[in-house]
Amino acid sequence: MKQSKETALEYTHKWLEIIKEKQTPTTEEADWIANESLYNFREHFNAGWLEYRKSVTLAGQHAAIEWKGKWAKIEDIYGRSYIDWLGGYGLLSHGWSNPEVIEAVQSQLLHNPMPSQELIDPLRGVLARMIADITPGDLKYSFFCGSGTEANEWAIKLAKMYTKKAGFIVAVKWFHGKTMGSLSMIGKKDYREPVGQLYSGPVYHVPFGDAAAVERQLEICETIGVGIAAVMMEPIQGEAGAIVPPDDFWPRIRAATKKHNVLLIADEVQTGIGRTGKMWWVDNWGVVPDIMTLGKSLGGGVMPISAFVSTEEIWQCMMHPNPFIHTTTTWGNALSCSAAIAGLHIALRDDFPKMAQEKWEYMMKKLQKLVKKYPEIYESISGKWLLIAQHFRSAEIGYAVTAELFRNGVLIAGTLNSAITSRIEPPIVITYEEIDAGLKALKKSLKTVSESLKNSIKTHLESLEAIPPQPYNSDKDPLKKMRKNLSVK
Ligand SMILES: Cc1ncc(COP(=O)(O)O)c(C=O)c1O
Repeated sequence: MKQSKETALEYTHKWLEIIKEKQTPTTEEADWIANESLYNFREHFNAGWLEYRKSVTLAGQHAAIEWKGKWAKIEDIYGRSYIDWLGGYGLLSHGWSNPEVIEAVQSQLLHNPMPSQELIDPLRGVLARMIADITPGDLKYSFFCGSGTEANEWAIKLAKMYTKKAGFIVAVKWFHGKTMGSLSMIGKKDYREPVGQLYSGPVYHVPFGDAAAVERQLEICETIGVGIAAVMMEPIQGEAGAIVPPDDFWPRIRAATKKHNVLLIADEVQTGIGRTGKMWWVDNWGVVPDIMTLGKSLGGGVMPISAFVSTEEIWQCMMHPNPFIHTTTTWGNALSCSAAIAGLHIALRDDFPKMAQEKWEYMMKKLQKLVKKYPEIYESISGKWLLIAQHFRSAEIGYAVTAELFRNGVLIAGTLNSAITSRIEPPIVITYEEIDAGLKALKKSLKTVSESLKNSIKTHLESLEAIPPQPYNSDKDPLKKMRKNLSVK
């Protein structure tokens, strides 16, 4: 051990007390938590995250450290409140800490959080059945995992096992996760290049939304004898900037894959569960993919859970001859499944697709006016339903707008390295008052940035204050004095 056992115990004890604390900390305590968090990120997690995040450098005097959230509002440890227009990149469709999801998870937690690995756990079956009921066509069987990238990883594996072919056709700029298989399909060099050699099977990238390019690539592969297991696409390209494909894209690639006896995988990790105006984006055209992947808000914003779903016929290779060909020890656990069952129940009952449509229509009209008003800031705005992207004239301008917006109490993505586009993906449950408050803050931010553009955007960014993280010093720890009555064994 690099520290003494006593120091490690003292430190973990302290954090367990903080975890149990229900009140917003005092300023003194919050300072300590902020400094500790920055120190820990810098020394033990990833210092780069601090350099590139506006919430660290631009939150007034102290970094914004998240503490709690409710619906579309998030509060940091200083009690500063932000309207959430980011929604965890689609993770928080049900809002922060949705009380119904939390209630289900808390109840489940009290009697059985994790599976025995041998007995039959009921919730996994319930969730698989629910997903079969609400996904299109003959999609029927599901397997659960934790992240979107795992769901895609395993969809790739399933397509290979079923077709006994190795090739994939995917889209340029497509994003679907950073594990090796998903990464091999990714259409962005930023993530691929540093890793070097990826999946060794053939992977062809075609422009997204170009059905003719997919058809041509399928023809070419057939002519030259390269076996293609699947065409794999994101319904709307999210990470690439909410790019909506032409209306004939999905029907045409469905027809082409059928013609060439190739599977079609729809990555609905971000678009699913109502965000894009239907329960699933592919429902917009009545397209039934062979495999669909789900994630993000599947866990109701409370637990991580993702899934890949397919037909009975394709699933045969998951069941025979070896039903344990695909397993993990932890995923499909009862806690995650309870969250997903509650989350899907809410999405169906409250009609998330309709909510997303109505709020998008309301928001987009007002956003378009701002895009017109500030041509020096905006290139364009894209997206449909609650997956919107602002495209800025430059990354610096984008960063300045998102940073100003954050100062004005609205959270959207704002990382310095990809600030040229910034997504707006609020919780579907956001209220119209919160949308209006966000728009008001955006107007104010655009005005400030527009004025500073007349001077220099660089000077503007340099004037923003960075907070130097402090190392942990237990002697100066204000939390030592408090919460004495809480004891942690
Ligand atoms: C369409 C899509 N697929 C897959 C993923 C990967 O999901 P995760 O970050 O949970 O691995 C993402 C993440 O943004 C995504 O947008």
